[in-house]
Amino acid sequence: MHMREVSLQSSLCSPHRLISENTFRYVPAVAKVTSYTTMELNGWVYLWHHAEGAEPSWTPVELQDITSGTWQYKGRTEHYINYHIEELPENGADVAHLAQVHKPFIAAGIDLASMWNKYLSWGQHKWTASWNQPPAPDEHVGSLKLTHDLKFFGISLPFVFLNVHAFQVGPGIVYLKFESFFGTGVFIQSLTPVEPMLQKLAHSIYMNWAVPNCISKFFLYAECVQVERDIMIWNNKKYAGKPVFAKSTEDSLIARHRRWYSQFYSENLPKLKF
Ligand SMILES: [Fe+2]
Repeated sequence: MHMREVSLQSSLCSPHRLISENTFRYVPAVAKVTSYTTMELNGWVYLWHHAEGAEPSWTPVELQDITSGTWQYKGRTEHYINYHIEELPENGADVAHLAQVHKPFIAAGIDLASMWNKYLSWGQHKWTASWNQPPAPDEHVGSLKLTHDLKFFGISLPFVFLNVHAFQVGPGIVYLKFESFFGTGVFIQSLTPVEPMLQKLAHSIYMNWAVPNCISKFFLYAECVQVERDIMIWNNKKYAGKPVFAKSTEDSLIARHRRWYSQFYSENLPKLKF
C-alpha cells in the first residue's frame, strides 16, 4: 500500500501526488527508508533481501497456468516451526525418511509414536524420490522427482496416485507441480524466517478451475498430515552444522544438498553459534 503512495527513489522520501506538499513539509530531511526489489508473481509478492545488499541474481519461476487462470487458488495451510531454515529444503534430499515418516496411512494421524497403528496398517503410502541440481544457469534450483501411491490391502488406488516434479527455487520457495487422476496442479511452499530458529511455513494449493474444491481440500489435508509428521521431528531435533555422514547413497545425497544450499549463505550473513 505504501509503495503506491510514496515514491522511494534514491531511498529518500519525496512528495507524490497522494501526499500533499503541506504534509511533506513536516518530514525531516534526514528521513530515509530502505527500498527492496519486489515482484508480483504466481499470486504472491516476492521481496529480495541480501545481507550485503547485492542485486537479485535469480528470480522465482513463473507458473503460466496460474498466470492464465487455468490453475486457481484452492486453499492454504500455515505452520510456525522451531527449526533451522535449512531443515525443510533438506527434507527433499532425505529420501530415506519417506518410508519411516510418510508410509503409515494418513488416517493414523501425525503422532510418530502412535501412527504405526496395526489396525490401520491395511493402508500405506508408497513413495519414490530422486533429487538433482540442474546445471548453470539454474544452479539456484533444486529438482525433486517424486511419486506417491496409496495402497489398501496392497492394491493401488489410482485416483490418489501423484506424479510430482518439485522445483526448489532459492532457499525458501518450492513449486511442487503434480499430475493426478483429477488433473494437474501445484503446491506452492513458502518458507519465511521469523526469528533465527523460527520459520513460517505456508503451503498453498492451486488446481485446475474445474476440479471440485472438496478434491483439492482433500489433497491439501493429506499433504498437511504428512508435513505435520515432519514438524514433530523438526520441533524436537537439533540441527547439526557438521554431521558425520555414512558412506551410503542416502547420506551422500544429503551431503550434496548441503553443498548446493551453501550458495545461499553470504559472507556477512548473521550467524548463530551453537
Ligand atoms: Fe518429510
